[in-house]
Amino acid sequence: MTNIDSLFDLRLDAAQQPTWPDAKKVEAVVTELKKLPPLVFAGEADALKAKIAQAQDGGAFWLQGGDCAETFAAATADSIRNRIKTILQMAAVLQYGASMPVIKVGRMAGQFAKPRSNDFEIRGDVKLPAYRGDAVNDLEFSESARTADPERLLRVYNTSAATLNLVRAFTHGGFADLRKVHEWNKGFIKDSKIGPRYEAMAKEIGRALDFMKSAGIEHDAITRVDFFSSHEALILDYERALARIDSRTDLAYAVSAHFIWIGERTRQIDGAHIDFASKVMNPIGVKLGPKTSPDEVEDLIKKLNPDNEPGRLTFITRMGATNIEEKLPPLIKRVNELGARILWVSDPMHGNTYEAPTGYKTRKFDDVIAEVTSFFKVHKELGTHPGGIHIELTGDDVTECVGGGEEISHEDLATRYESACDPRLNHTQSLELAFLVAQSLRDR
Ligand code: PEP
Ligand code: CO
Repeated sequence: MTNIDSLFDLRLDAAQQPTWPDAKKVEAVVTELKKLPPLVFAGEADALKAKIAQAQDGGAFWLQGGDCAETFAAATADSIRNRIKTILQMAAVLQYGASMPVIKVGRMAGQFAKPRSNDFEIRGDVKLPAYRGDAVNDLEFSESARTADPERLLRVYNTSAATLNLVRAFTHGGFADLRKVHEWNKGFIKDSKIGPRYEAMAKEIGRALDFMKSAGIEHDAITRVDFFSSHEALILDYERALARIDSRTDLAYAVSAHFIWIGERTRQIDGAHIDFASKVMNPIGVKLGPKTSPDEVEDLIKKLNPDNEPGRLTFITRMGATNIEEKLPPLIKRVNELGARILWVSDPMHGNTYEAPTGYKTRKFDDVIAEVTSFFKVHKELGTHPGGIHIELTGDDVTECVGGGEEISHEDLATRYESACDPRLNHTQSLELAFLVAQSLRDR
């Protein structure tokens, strides 16, 4: 029987870890986390891997979305339901528009920790540790709030469990039934331009389902959906404590989520994060920014998927709208030369962030669209499958990204800016993006 405690190399450098003030307290929390039941099951991670393998072959599309940073306060029924509804709506648009299965994945039930460019935040003459997500400290700008507290990791576990419980109830309890495609739009702002377009599509889906029913075809698959959880595996005290040996296979799995990814700032080939990812069997992702070299990509593949296992490895590219057409092709070419099985996913958010004159961190909807459009173009030129998108979104009617059909301006950002970290697409912008991507998928 494999010993989980000796599996990970604790001597390696781990970037972006909190400065916990009290090592004893961390130890106590880790001991407690290790005793807790898994949040997800190894077999579910395997099922997701099989779906990713299908997408790698061009037979499915990956849709991953949710908050930049989940917060404990926003883990309410309304907020969770709105995010799920938004993702289900986007998936329906993509699936109907492109006639392709869509793999639905939430940046949800565990996305509580953030890497930061600066360790400190300065306001006036006060300098405090940066907010690193609810897993570590609190957004409020005070000494006590910004002090890292390992007890928060237990709250991450409990909040993730509660969120997943609701996600499972919604997606298996009738709410995600395709015949409810109309109802997912209820409660959202009606007068937006995108609403009628969605309603028209929902009507078509309804007619298609009625047609199937009249022909005697009733399929279980329309009544429930598989919805998977994912987050950035960042805080290694938490992730290692939530790794378990699968009793069926004697292999290690991360049981904090079905899918975990390693971020742009922590993907050092000899670092502790890549070591962790290399030793769990889950499907995993790695973010690739504009500075990534083909050699780095090759090293990651050799380390993370030496046997070229189908479904195992996803690259999430976040190049920026102005960089992608130059920076992405050399990486794809290297992967093709190696014959490596990769799911290519576009994150059109993280390479397109800037500070508005009003001081808010924002993104232009047009830049998001431009990066996705270039992503499709590059893959078309190289004959590879544009496998999916990775989006920061919320089901709420926030004003965090500028542009889109509602034409949110820099001045509008103050109206409802709620993100604890990066700006998210709101419900309308998310649906608009889905329609545009569906079109690109169809034209591919
Ligand atoms: C994120 O996904 O929120 C993030 C920090 O991304 P990246 O690692 O690509 O910067
Ligand atoms: Co982000």
